[in-house]
Amino acid sequence: MTESLDDLGVQFGTDKSSRGHGYLVRYHQHLAYLRECEGVVVAEIGVWTGASVAMWGHWLPRAEVIGVDIDLSRVSVPRPINVRLIEADAATLELPARSVDVLIDDGSHQAKHVTATLSRMWPAIRPGGWLIIEDWACQWEAGYGGNTHGSPATKALHRWVDQALLPQCDDVAELHCYEELAMIRKAP
Ligand SMILES: C[S@@+](CC[C@H](N)C(=O)[O-])C[C@H]1O[C@@H](n2cnc3c(N)ncnc32)[C@H](O)[C@@H]1O
Repeated sequence: MTESLDDLGVQFGTDKSSRGHGYLVRYHQHLAYLRECEGVVVAEIGVWTGASVAMWGHWLPRAEVIGVDIDLSRVSVPRPINVRLIEADAATLELPARSVDVLIDDGSHQAKHVTATLSRMWPAIRPGGWLIIEDWACQWEAGYGGNTHGSPATKALHRWVDQALLPQCDDVAELHCYEELAMIRKAP
């Protein structure tokens, strides 16, 4: 029986679970096929206590999970051996081209950082891989560089919507927008 990602998220204490934002149903829906794959690399910007990277490492035991955070001093959740942590500012993070199957931005949520993730991180996504942004409500908040018309990141995302819709653009295979969650899949 497939382990419910949401149950794991509750167990590890990430706010991605149904006790918080409720994203894990969507992650399970779109990413469960990766559990059968070898050589998968998942990177998450924003580690905090380490709850979510521990969850990814457990749910995807054959994957390599990389957690990136500007400050790793809050990490307290024990992590499986397939989880590696890097202390770095995502704004200057350089990932090799086509090196990551799933990149999740759960970092600062600042509009300038989310905008940078949408542009700078795309080349690092492997064909068929995913670029995922969480907590989109921040893009409507002044403290994150947004407003009630959205933010520069909202405008950047709108360009991705066009790319997903236009037949002449063959770079984006799928784009899913759920409450506070944007998931963009690169063409295989
Ligand atoms: C919402 S928490 C991450 C929660 C975690 N992903 C989870 O689900 O359990 C956000 C994290 O982003 C980190 N962060 C903020 N700005 C950052 C930056 N510029 N680069 C990397 N990490 C950053 C913070 O230090 C904080 O630990």
